[in-house]
Amino acid sequence: MLPTFVDAFVARDDDDDDDDASPSSFVACVVSRRHGDGATLASLLDVARAAAGTGAPLGLPELQARHLASQLALALDALHRVAAIVHGDVKPENALVDRAHRIQLCDFDLATSTSRPAVADAEDDLAEENDEDEYLYAFCGTAEYLAPETIAGAPRSAARDWWALAITMYELVHGKTPFASSRGNDEVTMRRVRTARIDWPDPPGVSDACRGVISAMLRRQPSTSGGGEWDVSARLCGERGLEDLKRASFFRGVDWDRVGLDPPASTKGWVVLPQDG
Ligand SMILES: Nc1ncnc2c1ncn2[C@@H]1O[C@H](COP(=O)(O)OP(=O)(O)OP(=O)(O)O)[C@@H](O)[C@H]1O
Ligand SMILES: [Mg+2]
Repeated sequence: MLPTFVDAFVARDDDDDDDDASPSSFVACVVSRRHGDGATLASLLDVARAAAGTGAPLGLPELQARHLASQLALALDALHRVAAIVHGDVKPENALVDRAHRIQLCDFDLATSTSRPAVADAEDDLAEENDEDEYLYAFCGTAEYLAPETIAGAPRSAARDWWALAITMYELVHGKTPFASSRGNDEVTMRRVRTARIDWPDPPGVSDACRGVISAMLRRQPSTSGGGEWDVSARLCGERGLEDLKRASFFRGVDWDRVGLDPPASTKGWVVLPQDG
């Protein structure tokens, strides 16, 4: 089952006689669809942190994180395979969530087609402004979610979105990302993305299955083939995307055909958005 917005793209593609169903019209289609009241996974994490009360980072219950991450994974899979688009800025702020725990990806400002030149006009606009720093920043996305090969200048690929999903999953369960500099310094963050060990809280607070899947998605194996600094294929989801994720024990029990369509079986203990949004 494809997420609704990809359904919309496919329908548009079928209807279109003048072949206007380019990735950019798909993007327009996606961003024009309202979902919920604008709350995102970042809003949900804010609620969780506020509930902790002590300022200590606190994330969502694991089953809630799994439910939300599964839907994000389906959205990424459809985006990559059906639309040939790399989102480029996957993070909690760009995942809309409604009160029924349904997810929709938003913010396609940095999206690029893997079969055509960049679809995001923002890149060209910023380049024209000749503001190199701003251009680079816009091109790169958000430091703490960047894959190491992106920082090293590798061409865009779907692997970048799966890496960002792993960082997002870590944040969903821990309330913070694993490589962020404590002072919010992007350069330090990017160095840590490339070299630092994953900062696991002690005691872990999450299951081995959860930690295992995130670690495997964030594996940084040096390349031996000379085709770049890292061997992305050694990473869970790096080459096979959703196919890999479906086999991970953390996701065992997810009904991939129904997740996001049916209400979750139980939401006991889940963090919820406040009624007034
Ligand atoms: N389809 C949508 N339905 C409902 N709300 C949306 C939708 N798209 C975006 N929003 C709301 O607008 C916010 C900003 O959107 P988006 O992430 O696309 O832009 P942005 O470039 O990150 O903007 P900004 O930097 O100003 O936050 C989202 O966090 C969400 O609250
Ligand atoms: Mg955004």
